[in-house]
Amino acid sequence: MKINKTILATSFVLVLTAAGATATEKTEPKTTKAKTSIELGQKLFNDKTLGGSTGDKSCNSCHANGKGLEKAGNNPKLAEAINRCVVNMGGKKIDGRTVEMKSLELYIKSLAK
Ligand code: HEC
Repeated sequence: MKINKTILATSFVLVLTAAGATATEKTEPKTTKAKTSIELGQKLFNDKTLGGSTGDKSCNSCHANGKGLEKAGNNPKLAEAINRCVVNMGGKKIDGRTVEMKSLELYIKSLAK
């Protein structure tokens, strides 16, 4: 009976340890997720599915290669301006704190001449 209890306790600890390891693995990808970059911003700028849109337009359809947005980087409400267009495209507003929005902003800022 005593041995059985020990085995039981040991198994319990092992299960807990395994669960702990799994939990760590699950949270890991967050730190290795795509980083904010001009390149990602440019990719999203050409993405027709931005904001979950199912339309046939990307940002690039109207602002080819960022044309006309050279001064937009100075806009203090750049994220709002971007979201106006995202909604116009049929997408849902993108949270300003996300890698997606930050990358779009970086890309647009990189257009300044
Ligand atoms: C259907 C055409 C169209 C699409 C698609 C479009 N835009 Fe626009 N965008 C416009 C027009 C027209 C304006 C100018 C009128 C205005 O400011 O609302 C504008 C304005 C802007 C501005 C403000 C410019 C400034 O000088 O401050 C930004 C930034 C912008 N768009 C970014 C984007 C981004 C990013 C996307 C993709 C999510 C996008 N646009 C998609 C037509 C479009």
